[in-house]
Amino acid sequence: MRLTLRVWRQAGPEDGGRYEVYEVADAEPEMSVLELLDTLNGRLVDEGVEPVAFDSDCREGICGACGVTVDGRPHGPAENTPSCHQRLGSYSDGDTLRIEPLRAAVFPVIRDLVVDRSALDGIAEAGAHVWIPAGTAPDADAMLQDHATAEAALDFAACIGCGACVAACPNGSANLFVGAKLRHLALMPVSSLDRGPRAKEMIREADQEFGPCSLYGECSRVCPAGIPLRAIGAVNRERLRSVFRRT
Ligand code: SF4
Ligand code: FES
Repeated sequence: MRLTLRVWRQAGPEDGGRYEVYEVADAEPEMSVLELLDTLNGRLVDEGVEPVAFDSDCREGICGACGVTVDGRPHGPAENTPSCHQRLGSYSDGDTLRIEPLRAAVFPVIRDLVVDRSALDGIAEAGAHVWIPAGTAPDADAMLQDHATAEAALDFAACIGCGACVAACPNGSANLFVGAKLRHLALMPVSSLDRGPRAKEMIREADQEFGPCSLYGECSRVCPAGIPLRAIGAVNRERLRSVFRRT
């Protein structure tokens, strides 16, 4: 099928950027949005034109590297699906797609569809890790965890750090991301020991860089990991707990 692409082109952070219009005559419904861009780039290279820059790595929905906005929706039209898995099946011959970077004030555009998501890394560095002098690795059976709690922790650990939740939020809030990390680590026996300081540091970092949460719920609809909105409740709960509970 023939698709028209309106693609955001921006030479660098200081460039104002603009949409360029391209035709792709041989798009297939099974293609992902990223494969569509690959096809376009193959042609642009043949024509001696600078290809469209975009991020991707695993293309299996597990690394969080990809992330473009398609027709105004972070990752694309299908809910809870990363850009690398957004197929073109919902488009018809002659349709137009508008492809632009993830839009958020904290994600400046580096080039074309590539944005700087290091503000999310800042939150992770502030507390999404475990500081324990562990010595040699303990026996895997030494710290028992019940199955239901382990499964719940894994559900929140599924966050791939793509940043789509921030781009989808009218406030640019990172609370779904923060809540997923806090909930995941609070449910693990070792990392739960740092629970209070972790919550304080991660929430402080998020408050500095990102907007507040007004519970619009857009974040959870675009999240490729399906992180539920109740993760946001964890942010408020962990914040209160870190203030009132003695460590
Ligand atoms: S919570 Fe979901 S949308 Fe946000 S960074 Fe994690 S995986 Fe991406
Ligand atoms: S490229 Fe890894 S999640 Fe999309």
